[in-house]
Amino acid sequence: MITMAAVDSFHLLYGEISRSCSVYLEALALVGAWYAVRKCVSLAIDTYSMLRLHFIPKLVSKIDLVKQYGKWAVITGSTDGIGKAYAEELAKRGVNIILISRNKEKLEALSKSISETYKVETLFIVADFSKGREPYPAIKEALKDREIGILVNNVGIFYPYPDYFTSLSEDILWDMINVNIASANMMTHIVLPGMVEKKKGAIVNVSSASCCQPTPMLTAYGASKIYLDYFSRALQYEYASKGIVVQSLTPFVIATKMSSYSSITSKRSFFIPSAEEYASHAVSTLGLSTRTTGYWRHAIMFTLGEHLPEWIWAWFAMYFYRSVRKEALNAK
Ligand SMILES: NC(=O)c1ccc[n+]([C@@H]2O[C@H](COP(=O)([O-])OP(=O)(O)OC[C@H]3O[C@@H](n4cnc5c(N)ncnc54)[C@H](OP(=O)(O)O)[C@@H]3O)[C@@H](O)[C@H]2O)c1
Repeated sequence: MITMAAVDSFHLLYGEISRSCSVYLEALALVGAWYAVRKCVSLAIDTYSMLRLHFIPKLVSKIDLVKQYGKWAVITGSTDGIGKAYAEELAKRGVNIILISRNKEKLEALSKSISETYKVETLFIVADFSKGREPYPAIKEALKDREIGILVNNVGIFYPYPDYFTSLSEDILWDMINVNIASANMMTHIVLPGMVEKKKGAIVNVSSASCCQPTPMLTAYGASKIYLDYFSRALQYEYASKGIVVQSLTPFVIATKMSSYSSITSKRSFFIPSAEEYASHAVSTLGLSTRTTGYWRHAIMFTLGEHLPEWIWAWFAMYFYRSVRKEALNAK
């Protein structure tokens, strides 16, 4: 008897609670439905943007970069890796090329090879961006009276391998500031007035996906890259109405000399393109997106990275780069 009474009162209580909760449950169901619709719409928009940016330009005829931006492109850090591949990709599209790096012999050879292969005019400037204010007067003089349509602020340095901040030398820290940050400011300051006068031009700043979230073990490098990202985005707001396109490129790892510090990052793979593959994709996004990784596989990784809680991103970076550091130290 007692048990049955207990069961009856439980049913009664349950019925009462369900009745009074049904309003809340309906409200919760509405919130859930709204959230699901928002997520679906945003996924559909992201998928469309990715197709528009990374696949459709490969299918339709390519934009005439000379007509759109101007006759000449200046690429900093252009004798190796991404800079070299960018120079070749732009030359392939009929743009005359001005190469800037430190090594005269490499510059001479590449300049000759680009002009012979792609039948465009080429020039080169020997400059070391780690030397503070020193290289800019000569660069300004050499670029005077040229119709610069595209500036690719590509030059950048990295550490010998990922490391703790206090293990970095003072020289590396100053070089990082001069090469990764100051060069983009000064080159843009030299070239942008001419673009504004002609009401057309494009500035591409090669940042990095390490700016996606704070990246430990790459602290100074990552910070220099978020500088470039913010620099590009703010500049775009200032100059878009004057006909200038400013693009922030935020790639993940690309197989170049810079990424040769580890056996994982030095080899081409599904997520690690060669510099040539990367440049061919990234150049086709110019004028279509002001902030992109430049490569669709990296775009997937970047979207995931941006949505991770910061502590997971930082934990993963610590774990991965500490093991890469260990590998580099063992190989010494
Ligand atoms: N590789 C990656 O995984 C990756 C990922 C994200 C972003 N990025 C960024 O992409 C850019 C290019 O990287 P990369 O991998 O192509 O580098 P890289 O293969 O090391 O090439 C660097 C280029 O810069 C030149 N250079 C280096 N120091 C210089 C200086 N002080 N003054 C003038 N030129 C200098 C080098 O030529 P000389 O030695 O002949 O001067 C070379 O042509 C960098 O800004 C980097 O941060 C790279």
